[in-house]
Amino acid sequence: MGFRWDIVWSAFPYLMAGVETTLVLSVLSVSAGVVLGTALALLRLSRFRPLSRVASGYVDVFRGTPLLAQILFVFYGLPQILGFPLSSLAAGLLALSLNSAAYIAEIVRAGIQSIEKGQIEAAQSTGMNYSQTMRYIVLPQAFRRILPPLGNEFIAMLKDSSLVSVIALEDLMRRGQLLGSRTFRYFEVLLAVTILYLVMTKVVSYLLAWMERRLRVTA
Ligand code: ARG
Repeated sequence: MGFRWDIVWSAFPYLMAGVETTLVLSVLSVSAGVVLGTALALLRLSRFRPLSRVASGYVDVFRGTPLLAQILFVFYGLPQILGFPLSSLAAGLLALSLNSAAYIAEIVRAGIQSIEKGQIEAAQSTGMNYSQTMRYIVLPQAFRRILPPLGNEFIAMLKDSSLVSVIALEDLMRRGQLLGSRTFRYFEVLLAVTILYLVMTKVVSYLLAWMERRLRVTA
């Protein structure tokens, strides 16, 4: 049985365009997730109960339901109430960002809570208010502790973003399926696709290990 690796080679640029989409989706949704997730973490830690409840409800919903269901809901369900359709890119990005925010909210919350209470007391005894204490004392120190789990979240999104292929967003996974169905060479094509995912996650984990080492030296 002959393998047709030439199909993979000639479709390489086609698959690499999918790699690009996968990277863009992951970078943008984790970035949006950091912004929304940090806001959620601060709400969650608020002493004002209703705010904290809203934030933990959000986390419960987005972590407690399948990402696949969320993607389908945003793409097919949301336009029904919005009154206009969403492109698969917009829907994919939105669903991935909302999902990632829930995971990141917990990462940021744990990071903030890991900062010793004495740090906060010391900041406040110098006359800093709540937002100054957060901004200048707590968040910068928490950032270093947050980086490793945030890196894990990014790697998770690199892989889990493949679920957007169900709404025909042409990420790496979708392109692999299309190429397989056009050539009937699923073995070669899907092997190439999985290797490309592996290369991406490996490169990112090396980069993260390098960043962590640098942050430790300057600590
Ligand atoms: N696999 C899980 C799901 O389908 C998690 C997906 C999202 N993962 C993440 N780290 N944001 O619900």
